[in-house]
Amino acid sequence: MNLEAPLTFSHTLLKPVISSGDTVVDATVGNGHDTIFLASLVGKTGHVLGFDIQQQALDTTTHQLVLTGLHPQTSLILAGHEQLDNYLTTGQEISAATFNLGYLPGSDKSVTTTSRTTLPAIQACLAHLRRGGIVSVMVYYGHPAGKIEKKAVLDYVSTLDQHRFQVLKYQFINQVHEPPFLLAIQRR
Ligand SMILES: C[S@@+](CC[C@H](N)C(=O)[O-])C[C@H]1O[C@@H](n2cnc3c(N)ncnc32)[C@H](O)[C@@H]1O
Repeated sequence: MNLEAPLTFSHTLLKPVISSGDTVVDATVGNGHDTIFLASLVGKTGHVLGFDIQQQALDTTTHQLVLTGLHPQTSLILAGHEQLDNYLTTGQEISAATFNLGYLPGSDKSVTTTSRTTLPAIQACLAHLRRGGIVSVMVYYGHPAGKIEKKAVLDYVSTLDQHRFQVLKYQFINQVHEPPFLLAIQRR
């Protein structure tokens, strides 16, 4: 048995908390790998809300969703994840949300997530998270904006009330080149 890579481990943690019929959020659609994963778990009666600010990301992911037959339970939204509250009703619960920070691989590296919008978006997800639900955040900090974002996100999640949320950091600490790490926030 090998220890799982952080990205794989995020799916291992999310899988048991997502049931058929749930509403979940992919806060950074990108090439759609997480969207596909979430859409297969919520099934035809569930709903994935996927956000990205780049049309290219939504086009690529729409193509994959159509090919896999997971399109009906997915809404892809060309907007920043910080606008989540405009797409959920007051009191509406989600069982999970996933963030994959940084830039779209193979695309313009200057278009990255930033703490200015990442923090309000995590906060909005937590406000809708049901008991036992998980928000996962993959933090990539090899690029300059990523270093600022990493600090802001760590500072924020470290202050969450331990009676309401458990916060896990999963990271290989002996690897070169600033490898990404996972944060998982579970509502108690
Ligand atoms: C690392 S990629 C996501 C990878 C994706 N999860 C996948 O499976 O391929 C980060 C994405 O976040 C998007 N992004 C940047 N700022 C955003 C924001 N405020 N709201 C939503 N998406 C944003 C970028 O356009 C980029 O596609």
